[in-house]
Amino acid sequence: MRLNADVARLTALTLSIAAFATPILVAAAQSVPPNVVQRQQDMKAMAEAAKSINAMFKGSSPYDAKRFKGAAETIRSNSGVALSSLFDGSATGPGSKASASIETERQQFDGLALDLAAYAVALSSAADQNPETLGPRMRMQAGDAAFGGGPLAKKVDPAGDAASMPAEHAFHLMLQTCTSCHAKFRVENK
Ligand code: HEC
Repeated sequence: MRLNADVARLTALTLSIAAFATPILVAAAQSVPPNVVQRQQDMKAMAEAAKSINAMFKGSSPYDAKRFKGAAETIRSNSGVALSSLFDGSATGPGSKASASIETERQQFDGLALDLAAYAVALSSAADQNPETLGPRMRMQAGDAAFGGGPLAKKVDPAGDAASMPAEHAFHLMLQTCTSCHAKFRVENK
């Protein structure tokens, strides 16, 4: 009987702890605004997608046009206006590493989000045009590096140029777009 009473007391205690703890956990989760949770999830999805495309260019995973396109589409659907709109209102907030400069330099931020979309569209259609192999037409050519980098480089207009450059080059410039935006609009220690 004594044991039963102990068990009953223990159970009651456990239940009351659970009842007490749950609201705290809920409150902690709620203090990170849903748009911040969402954009961080989207960014992680884009990072996974970029990794998978990178592995195919490197040859560490076999080329598969469907997976390549799927990854490009993940980036496309999370870029452009879909990306920008998750920073509407106050860009910074609890749990966020977004910089306050997003609010003051919004045009540049939105522009980078659109550049990302343009490169992703180019990669997606490269997969359509190359259903079997990641062939030489998708590869960066000698001279591509000068296009978009360095003081003598021709300035790239992603919306106009991404579709006509080799996919590998569009991919490199896309990664540079991720890096440029992070360098300017993400704070590391916050
Ligand atoms: C237009 C600007 C912009 C572009 C372009 C951009 N990012 Fe981000 N990224 C951000 C900002 C701002 C944050 C911080 C968001 C926050 O914490 O609220 C972030 C955060 C991240 C994170 C951390 C997410 C987390 O869990 O906290 C990853 C990973 C990431 N980005 C990957 C990428 C990749 C990969 C690309 C390119 C394919 C990319 N980003 C393109 C602005 C950008």
